[in-house]
Amino acid sequence: MKIIKVKDLGFKYAGTDFYAIRGVNLEIDEGEFVVLAGKSGCGKTTLLRCLNGLIPHFYEGEFEGRVLIDGVDTRECPPHILSQKAGMVFQNPDNQLFALSVEADIAFPLENLGLPREEIRDRVEWALKLLGIEELRKRSPFELSAGQKQKVAIASVLAMKPKILLLDEPTSSLDPVSAKNLIDAIIDLNRRHGLTILISEHRLTHLIPHADKLAIMDGGRIIYFDDPRRILKEDVLMYGISIPRVVEVAREMRRIGGCIPFRDIPLSVEEFISGLKGALR
Ligand SMILES: Nc1ncnc2c1ncn2[C@@H]1O[C@H](COP(=O)(O)OP(=O)(O)OP(=O)(O)O)[C@@H](O)[C@H]1O
Ligand SMILES: [Mg+2]
Repeated sequence: MKIIKVKDLGFKYAGTDFYAIRGVNLEIDEGEFVVLAGKSGCGKTTLLRCLNGLIPHFYEGEFEGRVLIDGVDTRECPPHILSQKAGMVFQNPDNQLFALSVEADIAFPLENLGLPREEIRDRVEWALKLLGIEELRKRSPFELSAGQKQKVAIASVLAMKPKILLLDEPTSSLDPVSAKNLIDAIIDLNRRHGLTILISEHRLTHLIPHADKLAIMDGGRIIYFDDPRRILKEDVLMYGISIPRVVEVAREMRRIGGCIPFRDIPLSVEEFISGLKGALR
């Protein structure tokens, strides 16, 4: 089932004279892991804002086309209902945290929903456990590291039990080790808990082997949307994408004589080695 359907979507922010995104068509299956990439300013954040209803409900401008999230038209559904279907984690977790303790932060939106106290307690526990941050529960969010803050932000979104998790460059303020750690947690949410994930990222190396689809945007449009193995056969560096080194090596090996006939472009060192073994057998 297509949990996200985007049809001829366009948006022009008020006060600007160009469409930030236009002619965007996209369909994502329930449980898919989709990576959104492209140069700065190509429209990734704008597209994500359209998927969780921030556009058109909070941002003024001209909206065209339509977005269906789990069968619901975003124009006709208030954002607090949409956030229970598609939760969004922003680039900077500081904008999402404000309470005195981590558990209060996670509980806050649930209290706003008017859920029973017991249900709130259960969901907070569940979300803390899912992200492996139980020991942070009493801490102030403001004294945490950037990686810990980002996990708390994700936990507070997940406590709403959305089917879709939208993440806008969640690792951009993290060091490489914390970034990998966070990406592993996100992959786990997809693989083990079946969450549909759409994540915008510049650093693709660790993420891309797990992606079902890669979407590349340019100039406000989606120009590629396919299995990353198929897309990365082509030269997409001009779209501001840092592809894994192993992809470059495999492509170069193919180019200089096709001596290693990889059937698919390997996306990780493990895939590269198993492709090599197959070819040498
Ligand atoms: N609130 C806003 N008001 C006016 N214009 C905006 C607003 N937000 C984004 N834009 C414009 O819309 C276009 C797309 O921006 P967007 O932030 O969606 O790109 P992006 O792909 O997320 O970039 P980055 O990789 O730098 O985060 C840009 O030209 C940007 O200047
Ligand atoms: Mg952005």
